[in-house]
Amino acid sequence: MSRQIPLASLACLTMLSLAACGGDEADPADYPDSEITFVVPFAAGGPTDTVTRLISEPMSEELGQQIVVQNVEGAGGTVAAGQVAGEEGDGYQVLVHHIGMSTAPSLYPDLDYDPLEDFKTVGLITDVPMTIVARKDFEPETLEELVSYVEENADTVTLANAGVGAASQLCGLLFEQAVGVDLTEVPYDGTGPALTDLVGGQVDFMCDQTTNTAATIQSGDIKGYAVTTPERVDALPDLPTTAEAGLPDVEVGVWHGLYVPADTPDEIVDKLTDALAVALADQSVIDQFADLGTTPVPEDQVTPDAHTAKLQEQIDLWTPIIEESGVTGG
Ligand code: MLT
Repeated sequence: MSRQIPLASLACLTMLSLAACGGDEADPADYPDSEITFVVPFAAGGPTDTVTRLISEPMSEELGQQIVVQNVEGAGGTVAAGQVAGEEGDGYQVLVHHIGMSTAPSLYPDLDYDPLEDFKTVGLITDVPMTIVARKDFEPETLEELVSYVEENADTVTLANAGVGAASQLCGLLFEQAVGVDLTEVPYDGTGPALTDLVGGQVDFMCDQTTNTAATIQSGDIKGYAVTTPERVDALPDLPTTAEAGLPDVEVGVWHGLYVPADTPDEIVDKLTDALAVALADQSVIDQFADLGTTPVPEDQVTPDAHTAKLQEQIDLWTPIIEESGVTGG
């Protein structure tokens, strides 16, 4: 009796179709052989988007494939992170996220991903100072005056942010805690659109990263009060630190990193890490970061281990502060 060979097996035998053999798993050695998407959890034109676009060009050159940037806004960055956590770990969906990766678990009790378990870290990118800024015709001229003003006008002052889980929201929370006020918050999909409204005078003030605010402070279209880092920022030398201006507890730097789904092969992660390191050593990237008030992280931080250590350390730092605040995103 002759044995029937299924058509699929025939195709497999003749190597006509890898997929027909059940062998559709891409070989990590071939990575990348098509376009890569960098998923940004906030609106286009904002600080995370800016950092992403700055690194994606040299990374694209290094990897030999186009990198497209996709903005997936919502719920303070958790929608984008949840999306990438659920993707196949093939290196084609890469999340660019910031400090919000470490604050989301305590802000969102029903979060559908675990930052440490559901991702592999690729490497750190930059640690961006924040600024406290206001519409240009807002009455207070200094941080000290802002504190007095919000104490006296807490029921009318509006504080913009990019939603619960955003860096701007965390910094605003530290400000409110330090001053002892509870302000009306105005959430946006990112601080890109929030800055547009600040320039337009629709909101009073906000915390935001220098990568979004430096040029607008320099042009005088918004008012800068302070930087939230221990040292002043070269691009904004006239701005005092929050500690100098009397609010030492409002200190926060917005660290950024790249993530891929947890089942991504290490060989692919290594290629992304190497390309990130090349991008961050690129003089034009260094110069553009400097104009925006920041620097690439030191070379030894552009590793999965350094990135994972930072993520763990920041979860440990922010969890008790957020739990004590009682703030929740849902
Ligand atoms: C953005 O890209 O819009 C920001 O990073 C939002 C934020 O976290 O404040």
